[in-house]
Amino acid sequence: MKTYLVTGGAGFIGANFVQYMLNKYTDIKIINVDSLTYAGNLENLISVEHNQNYEFIQADIRDEKAINQIFEKYDVDYVVNFAAESHVDRSIENPSIFVETNVNGTLNLLNLAKKHWELEDDQFKPGKKYVQISTDEVYGSLGETGYFTETTPLDPHSPYSSSKASGDLMVKAYADTYKMPVNITRCSNNYGPYQFPEKLIPLVINNCLKKENIPVYGDGMNIRDWLFVEDHCKAIDMVINDGVVGEVYNIGGHNEKTNIDIIKTIIAHLNKKVDSSISEELITFVKDRKGHDRRYGIDPTKISKELNWLPDTPFEEGIIKTIDWYLDNREWTNKIVSGEYKDYYSNMYSQK
Ligand code: NAD
Ligand code: DAU
Repeated sequence: MKTYLVTGGAGFIGANFVQYMLNKYTDIKIINVDSLTYAGNLENLISVEHNQNYEFIQADIRDEKAINQIFEKYDVDYVVNFAAESHVDRSIENPSIFVETNVNGTLNLLNLAKKHWELEDDQFKPGKKYVQISTDEVYGSLGETGYFTETTPLDPHSPYSSSKASGDLMVKAYADTYKMPVNITRCSNNYGPYQFPEKLIPLVINNCLKKENIPVYGDGMNIRDWLFVEDHCKAIDMVINDGVVGEVYNIGGHNEKTNIDIIKTIIAHLNKKVDSSISEELITFVKDRKGHDRRYGIDPTKISKELNWLPDTPFEEGIIKTIDWYLDNREWTNKIVSGEYKDYYSNMYSQK
């Protein structure tokens, strides 16, 4: 029975991953460690909270004592580090916490995994692996052509992507220096259930339902490469189990869309399904994000060829599933937007 220490499992992708793994395997144990920042929500995990193969521990990945106790209590086989500050706009307002969590938190996990897994110089207990969940944003921004491959030089621009790149480099350092068994995954933009409504897709759905203006940064022509979250979870599972130690894997399904296209797709579906007064009139162009990356696009050749990964959910299907999930779970969003997020939203968007 393999034991997974999953960090950040109460957030968007982490919660989807915990559910995906517990649905797929009955012979694994998942310890979910999350400090429950504004983005962590145990409601995302109601479906697994009584699963005997699942345990939640509230702790900060920077907390050496708390994480050490977990390694002492459990024979951890895999660390899967999702825990992060993840929102670019917040990083522009307050970079420090991004360095704290995404760099120092990663370093603390690496140190403790090394302490508990290392046998002697250059030797680690067999079967152990540290998997860093990173992002395509570490590669920077593309022009109109080309894709990010695993050998594209790191060129992050925002405090968020720079902190993620720094975390990746610490993981690389532990692999290169101590021969620690690691993988790094770099995925494109995810969408799906449980995404915090500060991110584009759930924000647009929520604003449409509330008939509030939809803030479009700049000219709305920035391009993101969207992947249904379950396909990301499937890829991570493959990397943990079959990824070659020390390798980086890019994850993405060649699904590039401009922001304005995404917004119009959501409006069209809600217009038909919910209320014909939800229309493109809600679209409001606002001041651009500082340092706004123009285009992301992943080349997934390596993970497709080496691990046989391909996405299962076409965008046309995934986006409808996603919108319908938010419609069926309005209470989930309403609870969030009535809390801390309410102040965040008015502060962030009053400046735009
Ligand atoms: P999220 O913001 O929804 O969730 C982050 C989780 O980490 C939350 O549950 C939060 O409580 C927890 N957390 C934050 N700081 C912590 C700390 N110091 N200690 C313990 N827990 C802490 O993020 P997400 O969108 O689910 O992203 C998860 C990971 O995937 C991140 O590392 C992100 O960089 C990466 N990623 C995200 C995307 C995307 O499109 N969302 C794409 C590629 C990669
Ligand atoms: O590419 C992977 C990354 O995708 C992850 O590493 C990040 O954690 C995740 O947040 C996401 O970053 P983005 O900055 O691409 O996502 P966001 O949803 O914030 O914005 C998507 C695009 O939409 C981006 O071009 C900015 C634009 N946007 C966003 C918001 C919130 C708007 O035009 N208006 C908005 O209100």
